Amino acid sequence: MEVNVSAESFESMVPGDFQEKFKKNHDIIFYRRQRDKAVSQYFASLETLVLTDRGASLELCERDSQDRLCLQIQATQSGTVRVSIDELQPLKPRYHVSDVLVRDLRYEPLRVDWKREDCVCLTWGLGQYKLLVSCSPFKLEICCDGEEIVTLNPENKLYFETLQDPARSSSDSNQEDEDRCGLWKETFRQFEDIKANGPSSVGMDLRLHGFNHTYGLPEHADTLVLKDTSVTEAYRLYNLDVFGYDVNSRLGLYGSVPFLLAHKLERTAGVFWLNASETLVDVKYNPEPNEDEDEPPGKKSKILPQTDVRWISESGTIDCFILLGPTAAQVFSQYAQLTGYQALPPLFSLGYHQCRWNYEDEADVKAVDAGFDLHGIPYDVIWLDIEHTNGKRYFTWDSELFPNPTELQHHLQKKNRKLVVISDPHIKIDPDWPLYCEAKEGGHFVKNREGAVYEGTCWPGESCYLDFSSSKTRSWYARQFSLSKYEGSTESLFVWNDMNEPSVFNGPEQTMPKDAVHHGGWEHRELHNLYGFYQHMATFDGLLTRSGGTERPFTLTRSFFAGSQRLGAIWTGDNVATWEYLKISIPMLLSLSLTGIQFCGADVGGFVQDPDPELLVRWYQAGALQPFFRGHSAKMTKRREPWLFGDDVTSVIRSAVQDRYCLLPYWYTLFHQAHTSALPPIRPLWVEFPSDTSTFAVENQYMIGKHDQIC
Ligand code: GLC
Repeated sequence: MEVNVSAESFESMVPGDFQEKFKKNHDIIFYRRQRDKAVSQYFASLETLVLTDRGASLELCERDSQDRLCLQIQATQSGTVRVSIDELQPLKPRYHVSDVLVRDLRYEPLRVDWKREDCVCLTWGLGQYKLLVSCSPFKLEICCDGEEIVTLNPENKLYFETLQDPARSSSDSNQEDEDRCGLWKETFRQFEDIKANGPSSVGMDLRLHGFNHTYGLPEHADTLVLKDTSVTEAYRLYNLDVFGYDVNSRLGLYGSVPFLLAHKLERTAGVFWLNASETLVDVKYNPEPNEDEDEPPGKKSKILPQTDVRWISESGTIDCFILLGPTAAQVFSQYAQLTGYQALPPLFSLGYHQCRWNYEDEADVKAVDAGFDLHGIPYDVIWLDIEHTNGKRYFTWDSELFPNPTELQHHLQKKNRKLVVISDPHIKIDPDWPLYCEAKEGGHFVKNREGAVYEGTCWPGESCYLDFSSSKTRSWYARQFSLSKYEGSTESLFVWNDMNEPSVFNGPEQTMPKDAVHHGGWEHRELHNLYGFYQHMATFDGLLTRSGGTERPFTLTRSFFAGSQRLGAIWTGDNVATWEYLKISIPMLLSLSLTGIQFCGADVGGFVQDPDPELLVRWYQAGALQPFFRGHSAKMTKRREPWLFGDDVTSVIRSAVQDRYCLLPYWYTLFHQAHTSALPPIRPLWVEFPSDTSTFAVENQYMIGKHDQIC
């Protein structure tokens, strides 16, 4: 059966209507394989310890399989420990994520503090941090001033599937058995996934001592405090296009940041798991938060709280960063020193944005623009969705509806207003379209496993997908935004990247098959979660280059990864016009803010379905206090410009938007702080009141800036 969603059939979709198209934990074979496996037995061999001025390395060996791994330990002056594990002698190189970490990370030399037969203690800097490597079984403990903070591999769940020779593997064992276990081939619904490298998953457990509140790991429509997953689904990090997603779910949405924060009295810490393949994270609290609260005040709890976090990824290597804080502000800064700071948004982009799928034509855009003036509602940007193009060919205009796009932009620009247009990553297959031909001839498309150009369906119908993982393709795409190439564009046009998980209507879980092939021969499975990040990067570069490097670009993306904060804004995709989606927008945006993605927002009013006037008003009031403030609505919804619901509604919305503009200098200042010192403009209460335990789980209130900052 082919799943085919056209723009027309989209109109009849009901939120949550087709959730069975997405995998549940038990459908994810590499995750099951690791969960079902008894513990592993790695030991570290101290004779192989080598210390250099950039860290330490030593070998790990698994007792049964005799698989040998190379462990690297590095530490930065600012309080971050990096633990990387790869095969010692892989059959072929495994995928390493590049382009996410900022260049030139500086590591400190490590020195041996003391050594025993089965254990070595390393230290660095002024010596307040110690790193204990136990050999048999292998464990790594990180302590600060004598206090144990994090243990790696506490339960011996380190797991590393070394690459096998396909020829040897199938002759040695029963092919059918292997297929059934999903080692070399796997089927989900009608989709077959052929694994060129066979089983290649990695995983590790970590214990956070004394912590029983953890946060982060976006993007999920779920609570701010991460749930204990012993009895629920694990947090899935796999970028997916989920129209009208369910709330209170651990299903992966459009973007992923594999970064978890933990907080307790006197310390915040972070764990960043740099892996771009499908990843699942299990969290286990002991005791559960609040479970031990019956203890009389002053009496020390019998159980020392701890949180176990288990990371499982489908492929790649283990590259794990422990951020030691000790304050939340230091964790934000340690994380930004790894993945970059929030881009400073152009001032206009912190104002109000008016979007709809779609503003019909130039007259419609001008009428809406005039409506804001007529009703005294300030706004800065109007947006055009996919229908402005000639048949969903991005970088073109529908000549009937938008015959004079330059004139339209000048009309807006006279009032200092901007236009944003959409540009998706799929390219309509049309041999008569020069851009398609150029991309094809330049080898800019992702290939299928047979080596032909991969084809899938999206808004334009049959399409090919640009391979943004290639720097050559990114440069080519960036050039399309130059004013001379992009006809009808001016300096006041900015860009919105959508459907970049990527969304493939007839693909498995509505995305690209994992066995599609990218530049360098890498399977899509290795870098799936980076696809949107790379498109966003190319768009950002295109706009920056367009201005000769002088103007800060504004770009919005739906899909993202760690580091996307350097490139612009993100929004939380296709939410629904109900109160529960308004409510969940707060923990969703706080989780993003904690993990570096600080210029974020949710569609005001709810994208799918029609909000009643009260909900719309409340959403404007909430949205005016969130970082990225854009009203947006789906094609099948009724028009909902702020003046369509009577004077009372118009007037309350006007006040909310005006309040936003009164606070604009404050927002701009906060974003400057985010850009320079990594403090998120919106913060959970615990960040500002770190020793008030009653704030640790609050998610219906938050701070904009510091608690003692006067605006
Ligand atoms: C996706 C986007 C939505 C957009 C629509 C049409 O559903 O999430 O914002 O309006 O596509 O482009």
